[in-house]
Amino acid sequence: MVSEDLRRIISRITSRARILGVGAESVLLVAKINNYKIILKFRKMKPYMDPELAKSLTILRTIKESKIIAIINKNRIPSPRILFSLPKTGLIGMEYIEGTTLKEALERELVDPRTAGRVAGEIIGRVHSIGIVHGDPTTSNYIVKNNNYYLIDYGLSEFSDRLEDRAVDIHLFRRATLATHAKYAGILIESFLDGYRAALGEPADKVIERASKLELMGRYVAERRTVWSKQNYS
Ligand SMILES: Nc1ncnc2c1ncn2[C@@H]1O[C@H](COP(=O)(O)OP(=O)(O)O)[C@@H](O)[C@H]1O
Ligand SMILES: [Mg+2]
Repeated sequence: MVSEDLRRIISRITSRARILGVGAESVLLVAKINNYKIILKFRKMKPYMDPELAKSLTILRTIKESKIIAIINKNRIPSPRILFSLPKTGLIGMEYIEGTTLKEALERELVDPRTAGRVAGEIIGRVHSIGIVHGDPTTSNYIVKNNNYYLIDYGLSEFSDRLEDRAVDIHLFRRATLATHAKYAGILIESFLDGYRAALGEPADKVIERASKLELMGRYVAERRTVWSKQNYS
């Protein structure tokens, strides 16, 4: 059976791979086939979940992530190319982009923040324009290689063209950038929104407006929490 052959080949590759990192949701390995480096992304099972449920969730999420990467590839949005996927193992094989995360590139001042923000926003605008929302658009989920930017990590992505879902992406980028890149946050967010508008066109303004409402709601919740905790501890 083809999938048995694939399984055997993959277990041979995995045995010679090195660990690249362990994320919140996954374990990543790098393997070399001839001179071509590939990433093996294994989705972690949720330990607190019923094992049968955790297994079904892994299968469904792996299928969705693989489908989404394939569509992203087909639309030529810069991302690693998907090579294969084994949903039952929670495994996705993809091209290795040997660069640095945008987060690190900004921290080490390897890229111009204005350009970086603009390109990051353009990419999210293109993703939204094909009916997908990313779900985790932080600077850790872009890789920069020779001044080319790639979006990675479709582990939380969904098929959606809803205003609310799109606004969440914009809000998440803004919130994560304020927390991680205090020094350049203003420039990054402003140019991100410029790039987003340029790529998505007219619908972008409404999305951005909705994202600022989410921001205000977030502040309101944070304030209430502060008041609440003060009342409790004084
Ligand atoms: N295709 C890739 N090429 C190079 N590095 C990658 C690739 N995919 C993931 N990485 C690295 O592994 C990290 C975690 O991968 P990611 O897909 O974001 O998983 P998680 O869902 O656990 O965050 C990334 O931040 C990046 O540094
Ligand atoms: Mg990630």
